[in-house]
Amino acid sequence: MKVENNKSLKEYNTFGINSTASEFVSITSEADLINAISIIHKRPIFILSGGSNMLLTKNLDAFVLHIKIKGITVIEESENSVLISVNAGENWHDFVQYCIKNNYGGLENLSLIPGYVGSAPIQNIGAYGVELKDTMISCEAINIATRKKHIFSNKDCKFGYRNSIFKNEVKGEYIITKVTFNLTKKEHTLTTSYGAIESALNDQGITKPTIKDISEAVIKIRKSKLPDPSKIGNSGSFFKNPVITKSHFTKLQKIYPNIPSYKIDDDHIKVPAGWLIEQSGFKGKRWGDAGVHEKQALVLVNYDNATGKEILDLSKKIISGIKEKFDILLETEVNII
Ligand code: EPU
Repeated sequence: MKVENNKSLKEYNTFGINSTASEFVSITSEADLINAISIIHKRPIFILSGGSNMLLTKNLDAFVLHIKIKGITVIEESENSVLISVNAGENWHDFVQYCIKNNYGGLENLSLIPGYVGSAPIQNIGAYGVELKDTMISCEAINIATRKKHIFSNKDCKFGYRNSIFKNEVKGEYIITKVTFNLTKKEHTLTTSYGAIESALNDQGITKPTIKDISEAVIKIRKSKLPDPSKIGNSGSFFKNPVITKSHFTKLQKIYPNIPSYKIDDDHIKVPAGWLIEQSGFKGKRWGDAGVHEKQALVLVNYDNATGKEILDLSKKIISGIKEKFDILLETEVNII
């Protein structure tokens, strides 16, 4: 086990924040992982995956385990479907592209989401009408305290909107090592109802899209709205879209007739945080190197050398602005470390 000390994490988080790890180890196999956990005594452990959904606001006084366990295995195949397992350290988008190349359907709407496979179940990644929970069968994880393997079924994961058991009941207790999906080989279930996908396909005159067409449409939409983390540091949506009561929404609608909304149930409405932030005048604004993206207000960006604290301060400014204007309390989607 090669331990690096005072390692800069700038290259390991998509926000590009220059925090350090007091100890840093790359983990390339499950055996490595179990070995590392058993050797580390009395030191806090921090699990680092693709670093695409976190904001580092301090240096980490912890043993950082960077999970790089690779490998994709077809477990079972029939004429119509395939059961496929992928190890936690695979890049999510590369895995989606592997599936598209092999005509395995179900993940195409989740193209170009940054990060590694292992953290995908933690926040039940989702985009353009599809979530990980729609095709995930199970995931394997190592319990840090016992070093035993545990298999979580889809149901065990208690998936919700950007939420799972790994953010709640068992937070910090497990390290996900493998995720298994059930994907289609023919008669794919295509989700094209999301407005932007439909118009991207129409623009190209595609009426009977393949999963590759959908993946390409999603890539095009994401590239047009979301900043590329390799160019401008960011962690995608910084906040969750808030859910408010119907009566609250009705009041807002009287003042803002164009407020976009999605019905959750008879009493609850989800409103896009991006719209709230834009209406509050934050879109495209910049304070030093910390800013609000000019094309998608839900994304906070690090133009170059912003500290995590500067991004955090900007998020607090936005939270209080939205509270004051709309009486809505935004919650962060990104994990603040
Ligand atoms: N909007 C604005 N101004 C903005 C941004 C958005 O008015 O600056 C309005 C749009 O006009 C639209 C609505 O807000 O009416 C929704 O916008 P968009 O379709 O861009 O989606 P979103 O709700 O802002 C969510 C996810 C994204 C995901 C997209 C597409 C969350 C927190 N975010 O964003 O996920 O890609 O839908 O499905 O649910 C992520 O989680 O990191 C992420 C990028």
